[in-house]
Amino acid sequence: MNSIGVFGLGVMGANLALNMANKGEKVAVYNYTPDLTEAFQEKHPHENTTAYYELTQFIHSLEKPRKIFLMVTAGAVVDSVINSLLPLLEQGDIIMDGGNSNFQDSNRRYGYLKEKGFHFIGVGVSGGEEGALNGPSLMPSGDKEAYQHVAPILEKIAAQVDGKPCCSYLGKEGSGHYVKMVHNGIEYADMQLITEAYQFLRERLGLNVDEIAAIFAEWNKGELESYLMEITADILTHVDEETKKPLVDVILDQSGQKGTGKWTSQNALDTGVPLSIITESVFMRFLSNVKEERMMAEQELAGPNQLADAADKDQWVELVRQALFMGKIITYAQGFYQYKQASEQYNWDLQLDEIALIFRGGCIIRAGILNEISKAFKEDKELSNLLLSPYFKTILNNYQASMRKVVIKGMETGLALPCFNASLVYYDGYRSAKSGANLIQAQRDYFGAHTYQRVDKEGHFHTEW
Ligand code: 6PG
Repeated sequence: MNSIGVFGLGVMGANLALNMANKGEKVAVYNYTPDLTEAFQEKHPHENTTAYYELTQFIHSLEKPRKIFLMVTAGAVVDSVINSLLPLLEQGDIIMDGGNSNFQDSNRRYGYLKEKGFHFIGVGVSGGEEGALNGPSLMPSGDKEAYQHVAPILEKIAAQVDGKPCCSYLGKEGSGHYVKMVHNGIEYADMQLITEAYQFLRERLGLNVDEIAAIFAEWNKGELESYLMEITADILTHVDEETKKPLVDVILDQSGQKGTGKWTSQNALDTGVPLSIITESVFMRFLSNVKEERMMAEQELAGPNQLADAADKDQWVELVRQALFMGKIITYAQGFYQYKQASEQYNWDLQLDEIALIFRGGCIIRAGILNEISKAFKEDKELSNLLLSPYFKTILNNYQASMRKVVIKGMETGLALPCFNASLVYYDGYRSAKSGANLIQAQRDYFGAHTYQRVDKEGHFHTEW
């Protein structure tokens, strides 16, 4: 008998199946169309995998309770696959969905399957093809008892850091896919922050790509250490074979997206979270896509477009490094605040320190900073905002002046640094005991009699303006 079945043999599904097989699991594999199954058998013959071309045989080959890991395109396909499986399953069988599914869909599927006597476990999977094969970060959610059946397999195939798997039970319903969604939002922001640092160094300090590659590689040895920093340093060393230019210079500056960053921002609006940095990074992807308009507007709209007057380049490089780290800290602070709000509003009991731990390996946002984030939330379970933890507070107090200098220089020289700006705006807004909302309240009361509260006595008041 096989211990687990993998349904869907695209690159991610195939690599996850191989990962399981390499860790000693007997894996049944199946794909809706036979071509990928054939290709899998041909390319990756493995003593622990068995390919099936008949769905019934695939299902009947599995130990009970059956564990089926879906790795199919997120969206309607997941529902149709689930419906095709149901007549073949028995009560207590477990369906896992490892795609980038919307957490609301996972909530719905969880309820739908529970009603019918089956288990649904949504599994956020991060780490791309390489991670899927060698150890991804896994974010499972659903019923805890059902999770116990699949935990030995998931925890074995996940990345391991300090002897701990980057996988643990996160909570009920679709909370695993929720955690993955915000992970992707943080990924978008981190990428945009690194890009802004790159643009500043290149277009305002006039450094060349090789110099920036070396700077990024150096930064990656310190507190900015992360997978995205590392790959960006590497990307910058690549030369286009045809033109002999840096490869990054021949790549069109229009960015794609599959939607998870946008969902994160949409949910921030629903949960009432000021998620400005991630949202700016989503907006910048949108703005990148109107390339022709931007080319035209460059000719039409005035503004400086010049090198910064920066006599001491090394000093500026350090200012940018500090600004980047500050932006990254605030991105995580906003993202983890969103977890906290979602956990309360959806009644999920998310453990923020655990989430930070499972992000330490395998996933795209893995970074040295996550150890400190985990520590901060472990030491103070009530911590409302990462910015207030002793470790991060000290860094922010030391780095905020650098961020100001970089942001001002960007504005002065006409370089858009939306995520750097948003970080500083949030920082200054958050540390202001006085917000200005008193005037907003007065305006609301003026035109709509919406009432306001007073600083000196209880109650709701209205003025005949
Ligand atoms: C991961 C990635 C992965 C992927 C997304 C985001 O954690 O492994 O986040 O899920 O790269 O598809 O991609 P977009 O930039 O296309 O939205």
